[in-house]
Amino acid sequence: MRLSQSLALTFFLFGALITGGLVARHVTQARAEAYARTRRLGAVTLEAVRSLVQAQARQGRFLELGRDLSGLVRLADVATVVVYDGRGRRLLARGDDAALLARLPPPGRGAPPDGIYLASTSVALGARGRGTLQVGFRTASLEERLRRIAAEGVQAGVTASLALALAGWLIGLFAGERIERVVARIEKLSAEPERFRPLSRGSGGDSEVSRLAAAFNRMGARLKAATEARRRLEEERRELTAMLVHDLKTPLTVIRSGVSLLGEIAPRGPDGRREHERTYELLELSTERLQRMVEDVLQLAKLEEASELKREEDVALDELARACAKDFALVAGGRRQTLALELPETPLAPVRGDGRLLRRVLDNLVHNAVEHTPPGGTITLSARAEGGGVLVEVSDSGPGVPPEARAEVFRKFFQKDVKRHVGNVGLGLALCEKVVTRHGGTIGVGDARPRGARFYFSIPAA
Ligand SMILES: Nc1ncnc2c1ncn2[C@@H]1O[C@H](COP(=O)(O)OP(=O)(O)OP(=O)(O)O)[C@@H](O)[C@H]1O
Ligand SMILES: [Mg+2]
Repeated sequence: MRLSQSLALTFFLFGALITGGLVARHVTQARAEAYARTRRLGAVTLEAVRSLVQAQARQGRFLELGRDLSGLVRLADVATVVVYDGRGRRLLARGDDAALLARLPPPGRGAPPDGIYLASTSVALGARGRGTLQVGFRTASLEERLRRIAAEGVQAGVTASLALALAGWLIGLFAGERIERVVARIEKLSAEPERFRPLSRGSGGDSEVSRLAAAFNRMGARLKAATEARRRLEEERRELTAMLVHDLKTPLTVIRSGVSLLGEIAPRGPDGRREHERTYELLELSTERLQRMVEDVLQLAKLEEASELKREEDVALDELARACAKDFALVAGGRRQTLALELPETPLAPVRGDGRLLRRVLDNLVHNAVEHTPPGGTITLSARAEGGGVLVEVSDSGPGVPPEARAEVFRKFFQKDVKRHVGNVGLGLALCEKVVTRHGGTIGVGDARPRGARFYFSIPAA
């Protein structure tokens, strides 16, 4: 819930509680007052009727008294008047409703009918001794008044609560909205520190919100500067590395052609072999590896910089696999390894991407397999359609990749057993992973059957 809303709700509940209490007190008081006034009025009326009854009874004028009481019932706000003699018998009874009169209980016995308030007092009846006078008043108007008081109370309570809720909402909107603005900007700052813009401090001053805005501005400015500096530094470092590696290419080409030339003109023995044959072989192998390494570093830097592929074309992965197997057949054969190619009979649907990069992925995987498979072992390269895309697998019968190293092998410069691969740098799989993810695909490693490593990657359909 937003701050402004929770403040409005709190104020509303609080307001309802306070005004509810106040209204309840006011209503009870008004009720008590209304009752007291009615009782006072009743007592006065009762006293007046008693005087009238005593005056007439003293002179034995009951007939006139009956007429007076009839007039009273008709004119005043009195519902019934009954005079009882000393033994509780009705001497005189007048009422504006005969049925009501019949239902009246004698004084002190039983409850009055609904809507009637009964007051009684003793009265001197002249020669007939002492009796009791009972006067009944209608309470309808009193109840109506009480109902009105209660309704007015509820209305006042609801109005006050709504007014308080509105005030709370406005306060919440004012304070809450400013805080909400700061919160949104803090969230944005953590995502994009370089696009930081300072917050206005409102009216300034020393309020918590203003201090929060000021602290946010300081933090944002610092974070922005630090991020920019780091990005600049990283760019410079990358440029420097790329430049260095690039500049290595020319002397390397010169060295390689020099080595090859020297190898060609080297004096040969009677068996046709060059003198220092092993040294030449090592030199040729090392320069070739060094050149591959430089290419990998450059390619990786390029892939890391660009968010999209530079080339997009239709690539037939089955054709790529066929060409790769052909190129590696000689190397594998030299190591007495079997290189098997498994492709479906019908050509695979092409995928969109950079054919040269995808070919390097295949080369790297097969090259690794050749390097890790002992003489006499088997390497299988396969490609097949899967889920609309293409799945490529390279399995070997080498030692395999243990589960704990599987997440690591795709990291730059990772080598499980450094001593075994002198001359390798550990960039091949990192490059594969970059290329495959740039094509929207996934790459992974598992176990081959019955033993060995199984590297696979899938490229989704365009
Ligand atoms: N087929 C495989 N069988 C067993 N381990 C493998 C296999 N392929 C790769 N690895 C392990 O993964 C590590 C990383 O491979 P990656 O191709 O990235 O680097 P590299 O082959 O050592 O060097 P580079 O390819 O850059 O010349 C290797 O050093 C090796 O330990
Ligand atoms: Mg490799």
